[in-house]
Amino acid sequence: MRHLISPLDLSVEELDELLVLANDIEKNPQKYAHACDGLKLATCFYEASTRTRLSFEAAMLNLGGSVLGFSDAKSSSAAKGESVSDTIRVISCYADICAIRHPKEGAALVASSKSGIPVINAGDGGHQHPTQTLTDLLTIYSLKNRLGNMTIGLCGDLKFGRTVHSLIHALIRYPGIKFVLISPEELRIPDYIREDVLKKNNVPFMELERLEDALPDLDILYMTRVQEERFFNEEDYVRMKDFYILTKEKLKLAREDMLILHPLPRVNEISVEVDDDPRAVYFKQAQYGVYVRMALILTLLKWR
Ligand code: NCD
Repeated sequence: MRHLISPLDLSVEELDELLVLANDIEKNPQKYAHACDGLKLATCFYEASTRTRLSFEAAMLNLGGSVLGFSDAKSSSAAKGESVSDTIRVISCYADICAIRHPKEGAALVASSKSGIPVINAGDGGHQHPTQTLTDLLTIYSLKNRLGNMTIGLCGDLKFGRTVHSLIHALIRYPGIKFVLISPEELRIPDYIREDVLKKNNVPFMELERLEDALPDLDILYMTRVQEERFFNEEDYVRMKDFYILTKEKLKLAREDMLILHPLPRVNEISVEVDDDPRAVYFKQAQYGVYVRMALILTLLKWR
């Protein structure tokens, strides 16, 4: 049995196969419409979500399976003090596979150690979000026809943004990847990623504060929201929240074939006027999230 806790739990070959499967699902959905008949997905969400939970549920329903779960810690026995370990042991008796989101870093890993069914990390605090990374990779692969040889700008809250952490881990395994890390001083990428992931693997990167300075060189611009819920005080959040706002005007500096990604939800960091630009693919990206989660559920259930 395999779990998905970090993007590195899949080898590059397995990941490539998953993306190929996701592309086939997109083209031939009817082929997979009964692939999970009689099987159940549990979604255990201790933290807010729209896309991740609903795309997981849509994915399982598209495969002919069923879904059960909770979308708020307060409506689960966590409110009575039950541990994640106990909860997952019980859910293992009710479902065949589980997607879990929790505000604490490492919660999904703990769950997987006690689980009788495959566990998928749907976000653990400010740490990792591997299925968003699968979504991001499928988006890039489908729209650019490659995953290597590109310059990727990651912009916004690089400190708390778990989608950025997971995406860096995944992309450094492809050749010719360069990162431009664009953030205010206070929201720079955590040291362990700079030292143990980027420097240790000799991945070229630079850190900048001004988005305008980075834009002309980018193949991909990955915008992120300032993660309000991870701030220790409101004042700091208010000071940081509108640090970046991508506008039509700024986009004049970017290449015609640059793609703009965002895991969503968007707050103010991309002006709505940008949505009509052909380079803005963040809503398409949310659609790819369903195909890739279908591919992931199928694959993890096959490996049981
Ligand atoms: C992201 C998350 O939860 O980390 N959202 C998502 O799953 N698409 C990004 C965010 O909340 O900013």
